[in-house]
Amino acid sequence: MRAAIEKRTSKRSFTTQKLTADQISKIENMVTQINEKSGLTFEFIEDGSAGFTNFKKSYGFFKNVRSMILTKGNIHLPHLKEKIGYYGEEIMLDLVDMGYGTCWVGGTLDRDAFMINEDEDLACVILVGYAESRSLKNKLTASRTRIIRKPISERIISDCELPEWLENGMQAVVLAPTARNSQKVHFDYKDEVLTASVADDYIRDLVDLGIAKKHFEIEAGGHFEWGNGAKYFRVD
Ligand SMILES: Cc1cc2nc3c(=O)[nH]c(=O)nc-3n(C[C@H](O)[C@H](O)[C@H](O)COP(=O)(O)O)c2cc1C
Repeated sequence: MRAAIEKRTSKRSFTTQKLTADQISKIENMVTQINEKSGLTFEFIEDGSAGFTNFKKSYGFFKNVRSMILTKGNIHLPHLKEKIGYYGEEIMLDLVDMGYGTCWVGGTLDRDAFMINEDEDLACVILVGYAESRSLKNKLTASRTRIIRKPISERIISDCELPEWLENGMQAVVLAPTARNSQKVHFDYKDEVLTASVADDYIRDLVDLGIAKKHFEIEAGGHFEWGNGAKYFRVD
């Protein structure tokens, strides 16, 4: 499995170390490339800390937040939220490869701190920085509040034993981040047709759908069509 998928967990406490001009330029290039291929309008912000200083909105979950990528796009772009999840996760995993701590944040931030065009939707931000290494006390607390991951059997219904490629893809889906840790994206494999869907009764469910599809494709190859309930196509 890709190391970044196994290694990634959400990081909310950062050191005060700022990104250098060279690092910023690399991240900005990644953002430009993603925008060119997706039609999205992601934007790197060196200092977005204003979105995290209002305690009422960020609940004190975060420490030393500074740099981030605004994951946004034109409201008329088809499958906007799903694409934000899919391409945002592509950037996130690359950032993890580069050694950065990251976190998707869609709810616990002050949206008024960010300037967005009227015809754009800001789904989330992706934090990027140097994760603070945990003290022993924090490590003990974290091990008690460890993220519970649903097993593959709760994420897919199948009419046969899962073939190896499908099992591999699902292992990566299980490790994907999800808003409020809901892990709601569900897969269905019947008559050799695979689909992925989500209830879409929460504002960031479709972002989660895009993220889950990205994880699946990284490990299983092939590609999903866009859309809730859309089919998967295998490439041998
Ligand atoms: C679309 C999306 C939105 C999220 N929004 C927030 C948020 O507002 N605040 C927060 O602290 N974490 C947020 N998260 C992080 C999730 O809480 C986290 O991914 C989940 O609990 C699983 O933990 P892990 O990422 O460490 O595997 C979000 C994740 C996703 C995918």
